[in-house]
Amino acid sequence: GPLEETSLPLFFGWFLCPDFQDKLRSMARDFLKTLKGLETFKNHLSDFTGEAEKEMDLEQYFQGKGVLHCTTKFCDYGKAEGAKEYAEQQCVRDRYGSISEVEVSALFVTPRTLGAKVSLTEEQLQLWPAGAEKEAAPDADLPLGSRAHVTLGCAEGVELVQTGLDLLEIVQLQKQGEEGERVEDLELGLLTYLGKGLWVLSLREPCRAPACFASYYG
Ligand code: A2P
Repeated sequence: GPLEETSLPLFFGWFLCPDFQDKLRSMARDFLKTLKGLETFKNHLSDFTGEAEKEMDLEQYFQGKGVLHCTTKFCDYGKAEGAKEYAEQQCVRDRYGSISEVEVSALFVTPRTLGAKVSLTEEQLQLWPAGAEKEAAPDADLPLGSRAHVTLGCAEGVELVQTGLDLLEIVQLQKQGEEGERVEDLELGLLTYLGKGLWVLSLREPCRAPACFASYYG
């Protein structure tokens, strides 16, 4: 009935604790600050501006909104495929409201999005929807959880869903053995450029913090 339909959320996911949100945002700010000062980045600026001469401030380029989280299933209040089935899974019901530790292993920047790559544990993978990678990259055959991320910001006019798609492109290139141009050993980790405006910072020390598995209604 209609009641049942409205009971499905916009999405399910892990919601990062406030301290970790602050920490990630500040890491991302530092990352952008460092990146925009690098010669190599300036040489590839046209990925972002379309024309090399144009001025742009990387630190103003992305807009973030809302609570930082790692989406598991986008339900769109039940309109998304498989939303009801996901919500009804026993493990989703059992683990609803539970706290686990989320691990961020890398930060990435593209002309569209700024995100953090999340490495899921076996236990967390039980809450990961089976089709998440397939629906976006049907031919890539990527491991479950490859798309797991936290969106930190999007460029103007870019939809949130893009962050996961950008991450999948990055993971695909890395899987194809594309190691990219090793750019710099930064304090936070190793920075590589994969081409097409894709920048990845693999954190020296992955950062972990508690997060609550829950849903968001908007
Ligand atoms: P993300 O997980 O990358 O942050 P919106 O505000 O656009 O409705 O999105 C709500 C949340 O659901 C966001 O966190 C967003 O992206 C995620 N999301 C939006 N659309 C999709 C989609 N088609 N597939 C997976 N996740 C989505």
